[in-house]
Amino acid sequence: MNEIDFDEIDINENAPYEEPQRQYYYIKKCRDYIQKKKQELSRPMYFTIKTFGCQMNARDSEKIHGILENIGYVEASENDTPDLILFNTCTVRENANLKVYGNLGNLKKEKAKNPDMIIGLCGCMMQEPDVVEKIKKSYSFVNLIFGTHNLYKFGELLNEVYSSNKMVVDVLKDTKLIVEKLPTERKYAFKSGVNIMFGCDNFCTYCIVPYVRGRERSRKPEHIIREIKDLVNDGVVEIMLLGQNVNSYGKGLENSISFAKLLQMVEEIEGLKRIRFMTSHPKDLSDELIDVMSKSKKICRHIHLPVQSGSNSLLKRMNRHYTKESYLELVDKIRKAMPDISITTDIIVGFPGETEEDFEDTMDVVKKVRYDSAYTFIYSKRTGTPAAKFPDQVPEDVVKDRFNRLLKQVQEDSAYRNAQKLGNTVDVLVEEQNTQNPEFVTGKMDNNSTVHFKGNKELIGQIVKVHLDEAKGFYYYGTIVTNDAEIHGDEVRI
Ligand code: 5AD
Ligand code: SF4
Repeated sequence: MNEIDFDEIDINENAPYEEPQRQYYYIKKCRDYIQKKKQELSRPMYFTIKTFGCQMNARDSEKIHGILENIGYVEASENDTPDLILFNTCTVRENANLKVYGNLGNLKKEKAKNPDMIIGLCGCMMQEPDVVEKIKKSYSFVNLIFGTHNLYKFGELLNEVYSSNKMVVDVLKDTKLIVEKLPTERKYAFKSGVNIMFGCDNFCTYCIVPYVRGRERSRKPEHIIREIKDLVNDGVVEIMLLGQNVNSYGKGLENSISFAKLLQMVEEIEGLKRIRFMTSHPKDLSDELIDVMSKSKKICRHIHLPVQSGSNSLLKRMNRHYTKESYLELVDKIRKAMPDISITTDIIVGFPGETEEDFEDTMDVVKKVRYDSAYTFIYSKRTGTPAAKFPDQVPEDVVKDRFNRLLKQVQEDSAYRNAQKLGNTVDVLVEEQNTQNPEFVTGKMDNNSTVHFKGNKELIGQIVKVHLDEAKGFYYYGTIVTNDAEIHGDEVRI
């Protein structure tokens, strides 16, 4: 999948029009340029990618990484000065934007010392015209800006940067195009995200995503299956199907198909051991999906089901299309079908007009569901979204107080849920060596909980049985069950 036959490409001819061949052509052009640079400098050319935000961005960064490695760059380690720095940005909350400006401010001096350094910006924040204007004005040392819809063009744009002394800016408002078969370089050898759809059509009134990621479009199932089979052949055992609203997967495809059907197709892929997905919108979660999940051997017992608020009037003004009651019914239905499932959520505190009563409704849902874990956010006003113009923005001190009360509750619930599984022996996919203690490794249970246990790094990428000894809030300490464990190639059999 990552192999491009560069010998086949003649860069003295004109660039082809079709994708991805056009990009392969430009990658080869960049490759020749970087080859010369390396000879000139007698050293490798280094790059760094800094990724902000969600799993989608993490996956996009893997695609950029793949293109850069094909061009001939090497990822910089701590002591290398990068020749190219790319920020893959997020704009879901104001904080994310501030971090990028902070990083750019720091880079100004660096760039003055090292004028050949290429600085690029991409991702959601670049889809906002005001941001691009600000960067052109205040950070004119940036070399390249592109958006979420033309990431596939990175090679072509970089080629332009090499021959230009002006800032290259290419941001599209939206696209229907999905370019397949670009090179990617995974962060983990044994697990991978897989995009199944792009964009979002829900227009929740607080959210900027539909404006920066464009209209919802699904990849064809055959392309998704091909990609996963290739990943499995390359050593992947766990995949995470990615979309802003995976439950509406398949709408608009020539042969329309449901998300549950796609899951059934993915389940059949031999060698694949775990299937995850993210994110589910409660309004579109079907009985068919619950049924498929409960019968599946590979779909992980975890569902991320953002509630955002427990107040019906707020949910209406958020444009969420469900009520507190229907959400709670859905949770009941899911738990009845799969009693051991983990349910996690996103909650926003301080949405415009939120009263104490509204907040109490949110607390009530939280207390009733007792989430395994919850991401709690303070409402952030995003220019261009309907909620930015709503009256009655909630005073900061009130929001902070509510936020702290909510946080205390979700932490208690998380500890309660974790304690329930104590003493069980569970399957854990070992992900990395523990950063604090090299004698330990860290892995994930199928319900997404984190477990630390004594073990060596040869276990990374394997699914092993671990006894849960101690629950620490939202993670565990455990012991690998090794009694008569035999190591068989890539897995431990008990
Ligand atoms: N303010 C605060 N949180 C937000 N989210 C999305 N937009 C905003 C905003 N304007 C949160 C939602 C969403 C998660 C990814 O980010 O909870 O589910
Ligand atoms: Fe934003 Fe709502 Fe779409 Fe999620 S579903 S990305 S919160 S608009």
